Amino acid sequence: MSGKILLVDDEEDFIAALAEKMVLRGMEVSQTTSPAKAIEMLDRESFDAVILDLLMPQMDGLEVLKAIKKLRPETQVILLTGNATLDKGIEAMKLGAMDLLEKPLDFQKLTGRLNEARANKLILEKERMEQRLRSFLRMASLGELAVGVAHEINNPLAAIREAAGWIKDLLADDEAMKISPNLAEIAESLKLIEVHCLRCKDITAKLLSFARSRDKEEAEKVEIGEVIKEVLETFNYTKRTNITVVTHVAPSIPPIVAAATEMLQVMRNLVDNAVDAIGEKNGQIMISAEGRGDWIIVEVKDTGPGVPEAVKDRLFEPFFTTKPVGKGTGLGLYICYGIVKRLKGDIVVKSEEGKGACITVTLPIHGTGDLISPGSFPEPGGVK
Ligand SMILES: Nc1ncnc2c1ncn2[C@@H]1O[C@H](COP(=O)(O)OP(=O)(O)OP(=O)(O)O)[C@@H](O)[C@H]1O
Ligand SMILES: [Mg+2]
Repeated sequence: MSGKILLVDDEEDFIAALAEKMVLRGMEVSQTTSPAKAIEMLDRESFDAVILDLLMPQMDGLEVLKAIKKLRPETQVILLTGNATLDKGIEAMKLGAMDLLEKPLDFQKLTGRLNEARANKLILEKERMEQRLRSFLRMASLGELAVGVAHEINNPLAAIREAAGWIKDLLADDEAMKISPNLAEIAESLKLIEVHCLRCKDITAKLLSFARSRDKEEAEKVEIGEVIKEVLETFNYTKRTNITVVTHVAPSIPPIVAAATEMLQVMRNLVDNAVDAIGEKNGQIMISAEGRGDWIIVEVKDTGPGVPEAVKDRLFEPFFTTKPVGKGTGLGLYICYGIVKRLKGDIVVKSEEGKGACITVTLPIHGTGDLISPGSFPEPGGVK
């Protein structure tokens, strides 16, 4: 059999011997005696199954199990125990463990369970992909529809604003109206019409500029360091004295093939969100960029309140915003995701409530610069 397995047990000799046997059976095995390191490894790469000691001095196996299920829910976890109590066993199953095996290990039984683990993981992965595809199709049609609506309502919107402006002028010139008891209310209503028209204009402009850039932008060589610099200069965030911005752009990162305006849009949205998240309190935004193999990794981290668990899955949905009316349209991350995905990259939000947020954008250095692709609206996702 084959399969990618991670062994986590504080008894070094035990896992070394077990790993040897498993490698002989054709499995790809990684091993560690440190639970913290195991979690780090799982954050970096995916394993079919983890064989995990329930009782380790550094960290309770159940805690490690929880962390694994949070990071990669499809990973199958087999717990090993010398003398587990029934309570622990039940708890482990509740937390999503696949099985609990007693030490000394029956190797035959273990390989049987590992075969099942692999099959389980494949099924879960397939289900997850199907789910992502379903939401992608839903989002794609939602996005196309949104652009269509934006296009259609642009002219009526301009007409409403113009009419409101006209009424305002008439009021200013009309002596009789100047003494009317209704004047204040009429003026207030006109103001509301104007504010809400501007809000709608903001939404349509964002959607249409995204749709236009999708169709027209030329791909060129873009230096990510320059993009970051321009975003910070144009917006002059340093004026916000409560926020310090720290940038770290590694030297000699190769340029990527993309549309510069789109890259600016992505960075601007991420930095804007970080600024909004920090709000009036003192805080820091850390922007970094580095090359890693064929990829560049750009991170925008902030010390804001982070993303509440309840909304984590919705951040990339069009029009999803937690900001007050007039402040956010909920299109920023949706557009970022669309741009990054078209460049065959990825965007992931990592956040723990109360501990800030970190948005990582990964882009291929040797991208095709393929700015036009069918169904290029983003699927939601990318949140850890
Ligand atoms: N750095 C962050 N920290 C905490 N929450 C964030 C962060 N970035 C985004 N969010 C959450 O995700 C939501 C969606 O973000 P998005 O950029 O798509 O829209 P918006 O900022 O609300 O509006 P827009 O960008 O269109 O002006 C935000 O309203 C906010 O709740
Ligand atoms: Mg935003």
